[in-house]
Amino acid sequence: MTTATEPPLTRQPTPVRDVDAPYQRARDALHKLYGQQGTKGFGALMKAVDARLRAAGEQRPAELKALDAARIHDPHWYAQPGRAAYCTYIDRFNSTLNGCIDKVPYLKALGVGLFHPLPLLKPREGDNDGGFAVADYRAVDPRLGTFDDLKALAGTLRRNEMSLVLDVVCNHTAREHPWARGMVAGDPAYKDFYIVLGDAAEKDAWAGPLIDVFPDTAPGSFTYDAEAGGWVWTTFYPFQWDLNYANPRVFLAMLDVLLDLANAGVEGFRLDSAAYLWKIKGTVCRNLAQAHDVLVAFRSLLAIACPGVFLLAEAIEGLDEVLGYFGSDAAHSECDMAYNNTMMTALWGSLAEGTGDAARHALKLTGRKPGHGVWLNYVRCHDDIIWQAVSSWVSQDRLRAWSRHYAGADESFADGMAFQAPKGLAPSTCGMAASLCGVGRDRFGLDRLKLLYSVTAALDGVPMVYMGDEIALLNDRSFEQEPERAAELRWLHRPAMNWPAAGSQDGMFRHLTRLMEVQTQLADWGDGGPAVPANANDARLLVFHRRLGKGWFTCLANFSDETVVLSAALRGFDQIGQAEVAELAAYQVVWYYALEAGVRP
Ligand code: GLC
Repeated sequence: MTTATEPPLTRQPTPVRDVDAPYQRARDALHKLYGQQGTKGFGALMKAVDARLRAAGEQRPAELKALDAARIHDPHWYAQPGRAAYCTYIDRFNSTLNGCIDKVPYLKALGVGLFHPLPLLKPREGDNDGGFAVADYRAVDPRLGTFDDLKALAGTLRRNEMSLVLDVVCNHTAREHPWARGMVAGDPAYKDFYIVLGDAAEKDAWAGPLIDVFPDTAPGSFTYDAEAGGWVWTTFYPFQWDLNYANPRVFLAMLDVLLDLANAGVEGFRLDSAAYLWKIKGTVCRNLAQAHDVLVAFRSLLAIACPGVFLLAEAIEGLDEVLGYFGSDAAHSECDMAYNNTMMTALWGSLAEGTGDAARHALKLTGRKPGHGVWLNYVRCHDDIIWQAVSSWVSQDRLRAWSRHYAGADESFADGMAFQAPKGLAPSTCGMAASLCGVGRDRFGLDRLKLLYSVTAALDGVPMVYMGDEIALLNDRSFEQEPERAAELRWLHRPAMNWPAAGSQDGMFRHLTRLMEVQTQLADWGDGGPAVPANANDARLLVFHRRLGKGWFTCLANFSDETVVLSAALRGFDQIGQAEVAELAAYQVVWYYALEAGVRP
């Protein structure tokens, strides 16, 4: 584990656990990344890593060490039946961190297990991409509260059997961050913390293969900055400076951030923009092997210092790329969870087409996920729906039709807006789920929303509720009046919570809690296998089975606005509605369960 010259790692916090294997994995990954610095340089890096692990172990509160010890024996502790994730902006949900503490009973009533506030650490002043331009990782946005409030929220959630999941914007910082200011000021401690190219031709050579993330609002991946003395790498907005992970001190600095936040009570990290962490000239600079090595090193070191903490990869990419973020097997794992964006995108495609086709195909593909990884299944989030992520198996024409449908073309039921996408490709889509489903526009709006959530909650993994969907909250167009936000269409689907409407807690809210209830009631839901699509002999339907521990679970969804009479083989007892079912109403979803081991219903 350590060489003769390096101090042995203190075996904290749980003496029984094997820390040698993760340590060796971290060391191997770091050696691949930084080994070329010579034995002396690499030895110094590992000493620095050891020191940080030791300090983090010593500082970890006893309450969290107890959680660590329990979770070692329950590696999928965050994926429990009947426990959803809930994602929200703090200010939009209930103003402040303390305001969120007041809403813990509401979250509990909804069946939330993981509470994921979007970035809340201190951002730069002015536009900050919804908090994704962090100016200080050790302070909370003063408008939302204090760091002590954050700890208090984590503690209150924990006492209510919920876990705090936090964004760590690990690919970039705000240009105002002290690391960036230090580099600009010539402080040697921050030398090469970011990528600055002095020469325009050199910049162009790197830029050639890159794909713009925001081609309209932030074209290009470099921003000229006179203070920095050249072209700064800015994958996203010009004020978001990409960190240079080729510099091991950047790795150490971000490791510190993760360890400190974990010790403050964060139980899961959403690693933002994980795909972009490493750059190699002549490549697209996304999903590179070295980006995976960075994540393996983070995962392995956290497994030593705070094993009860999970990592969620934010990589909204094609399926092959996303699967890479799980690592090859349990012994070589990387991130514990990843967004199931293939299935999410396909479900919206199916809804637009009125058939189960796209969703069925996506199920075949996403079933390839390795067993040690867990899907985060979702309907909507704070970002746009990126149709391009499924372009390897859905034609551009078909994607364009989906995009147009959700932008409301041809009097479709949807009320969304087309967002930016690389030239010539189907534009992404913005809008709240309820608006995209046509709530308030035709009589099926709420049924469509229920369909999407019912199918999502039937999949293996953790279902996520995006704030407001539980009350079918619609788009918020107020951003159009705010100069700073007007050009950023994603604000369309970042409304403020409507608490008076939430008070009634029926309709969608009741439907979601019913889904969570049924999950809890079905034996061995938590150990259930992947969804396997079946042939329904009716294009309007999606049918899939899942093997649960003691029996078979079946989900049937009608993607059309017609009633579908079911063949005898597809009839059954619906666990959601508690009734025998012989036909499916427009957009109806039913869940069946049969206890006979080994026999499909
Ligand atoms: C992620 C976030 C998105 C943000 C971007 C840059 O994709 O989800 O909202 O704009 O990263 O941080």
